[in-house]
Amino acid sequence: MIRKSSVRLIIVYVLLATLFSCTSSPEKKSLSIEQKIDSVLSQMTLEEKVTMIHASSSFTTGAVPRLGIPEWTMSDGPHGVRKEHGRGWVGSESPEYFATYLPVGVSLASTWNPELGYTFGKVLGEEARYRGKDVILGPGINILRTPLNGRNFEYLSEDPYLISKMVVEYIKGVQDQHVAACVKHYLANNQETDRNTVSVEMNERTLREIYLPGFAAAVKEGGVYTLMGAYNKFRGQYCTHHEYLINKVLKEELGFDGAVISDWGAVHSTLEALKFGTDVEMGTDLSQGEVKNYDKFFMGDTVISLVKSGVIKESLINDKVRRILRIMYRTKVIGGGDRGTGSFNTPEHQAAALKIAEEAIVLLKNEGSLLPLNKSSVKNVAIIGANANRKQGGGGGSSQVNAKYEITPLQGIEKMLFENVQVTYAEGYEVARDAKANANKIKEAAEAARKADASILVCGWIHGYTDSWNDNAYDAESVDKPNMFLPFGQDELINAVLKANPNTIIVIMGGGPVDMTKWESKAKAILFAGYPGMEGGTPIGKIIFGELNPSGKLTMTFPKRLEDSPAHAIGEYPGKDNVVYYNEGIMVGYRYFDTKKVQPQFPFGHGLSYTTFLYENLQLTKGDNQSVVATVTVRNTGSRAGAEVMQLYVKDIESSVERPDKELKGFQKVFLQPGESKDIILTLSVDAFRFFDEKKMEWVLEPGKFQVMAGSSSRDIRLTKEIDL
Ligand code: GLC
Repeated sequence: MIRKSSVRLIIVYVLLATLFSCTSSPEKKSLSIEQKIDSVLSQMTLEEKVTMIHASSSFTTGAVPRLGIPEWTMSDGPHGVRKEHGRGWVGSESPEYFATYLPVGVSLASTWNPELGYTFGKVLGEEARYRGKDVILGPGINILRTPLNGRNFEYLSEDPYLISKMVVEYIKGVQDQHVAACVKHYLANNQETDRNTVSVEMNERTLREIYLPGFAAAVKEGGVYTLMGAYNKFRGQYCTHHEYLINKVLKEELGFDGAVISDWGAVHSTLEALKFGTDVEMGTDLSQGEVKNYDKFFMGDTVISLVKSGVIKESLINDKVRRILRIMYRTKVIGGGDRGTGSFNTPEHQAAALKIAEEAIVLLKNEGSLLPLNKSSVKNVAIIGANANRKQGGGGGSSQVNAKYEITPLQGIEKMLFENVQVTYAEGYEVARDAKANANKIKEAAEAARKADASILVCGWIHGYTDSWNDNAYDAESVDKPNMFLPFGQDELINAVLKANPNTIIVIMGGGPVDMTKWESKAKAILFAGYPGMEGGTPIGKIIFGELNPSGKLTMTFPKRLEDSPAHAIGEYPGKDNVVYYNEGIMVGYRYFDTKKVQPQFPFGHGLSYTTFLYENLQLTKGDNQSVVATVTVRNTGSRAGAEVMQLYVKDIESSVERPDKELKGFQKVFLQPGESKDIILTLSVDAFRFFDEKKMEWVLEPGKFQVMAGSSSRDIRLTKEIDL
């Protein structure tokens, strides 16, 4: 029995508690980030706001010391923290900045393992944090539209779904270390030729189905904090200040609440940058002598006078500063909280680089199971090719990394051999711009191969190791490849070596396909190694001698020849009069090859294993909201453990518009012991079956029959089922 006096006391207490919570002073209640930003903004002068929206050095934006706001510090790049850049673009070569050189983007994506995407991002974020960087300028996710693009190596794939799955985990890995990722280059920066002036023309369906989805996933699923505007134009307007792409699509439709950072020198107009979405201007080349006068940037002093004269509303500037402050708060650059110290060049980071490289390397061909070689029966090994002995990390342009070390293929292969094995290295070709076949080097290499009981030739594209732009041959920023042929006379070398020893293993390094029609039919075993990072040589050796079962899969189609590629067969490249028409539309990569029945050299999603996999019992059932649940069993039917990437493709059997023969809409990598099987269950949302109707300007599901295909590549479909939607 409760006395009346106690009830009265309880009521008084509840009333007081309620009153207190409503009236407690702000400092007692934790203010939201937006409230904190409101408060900071209200204290800032116009000049202080403007100093934050443009560079204060090559890789920082202006500080407001009075309010405790530091410079915002950025660094390249997508697969490792670049050497230190001073205020005048002077880079430091000192060993203290030698970093973990991860496999490049196309190698990371070749793992088809989103968990490794997170691991990759975590390493990059920890190293950026340790180096005091608030923003790391990656991932690069532009579609691999043409094999000639100099920066294909930096990107991920020709397929937007694979890009989306890998980029989301990469971003989360980086941003969990209190460092902002910067997804780039938004968008359609698919060539280096004329990159600063070319205008990309494509229809809306192509934009929505191919070139936008990776960025949309980065924003909506990855929660990316910053995004970099591309150099090129899109439909006639510069991407980095674009009314439709940035204001409408990115910030309004996708709800991007982070900061748009221009590419370095990508801003061309003060008013456009202010009105059409640029939040931070970097790299504009208004150098006044050896030291840039950053206040002379488009978004510098001019902005102050435009606001003061009433031409531009200060609220436009406030939104830009708000976005920067928002990310500064989220990454604890301001506002307190433990940011952690990051870590640098740790064994864990190097182990991660190795793990990613191990899963990245693709076994393209293995006729007669030539591979793996039995190292106990090897007494004399020939290792041929300048790429066998070349370090790649420092090349490529802005994505360069001064690696703490780099294990070359030669070192990786040698590590596998028993003491008494005779190793002969022959360079085979000369790495120099426009170098042709070198008869003496070829003769020396062929002789070594003839005498060897194991012959391995490492060829491909290269990066220069130096920083000078003109030494970066072929896979590099600001330059596209002249063609798909191997440079430096490598075709002649490969033919001579295969003639001398038909069991020579071919290893191709680089960011994408090569024209191998002159020798592919004579090669029994071919590996595609991408640029596998600082540990890359190790898995190459382990795969060749059987210590590692390869599990990588191609993320882009390898055409037989350049003219088979859609950008060259029906599209335009590099365009003319600074306009390039993507006439191939949505028919990019395997979408084109499979729909138009063009035979590739090696298809999208292709990659062999030292074991075999059986696909059984594909079942489709309808799920909620017009989704489809696909189940399939994958069994390891071989004698050794291995990993398989089961790929799910969708086809609309009848539709009112042309649709691709198949589109990747699901995949899962499974690791199986001999005899082991796994039931894979994937849910295909209704989006997997829709196309973008550009008349209605919306995604549309046309009822009818669809095929769902489970395969080991886009051309190795194992099981197919139909479903009515
Ligand atoms: C470059 C690149 C961009 C890089 C930036 C800073 O030109 O296009 O990817 O992050 O400038 O180096």
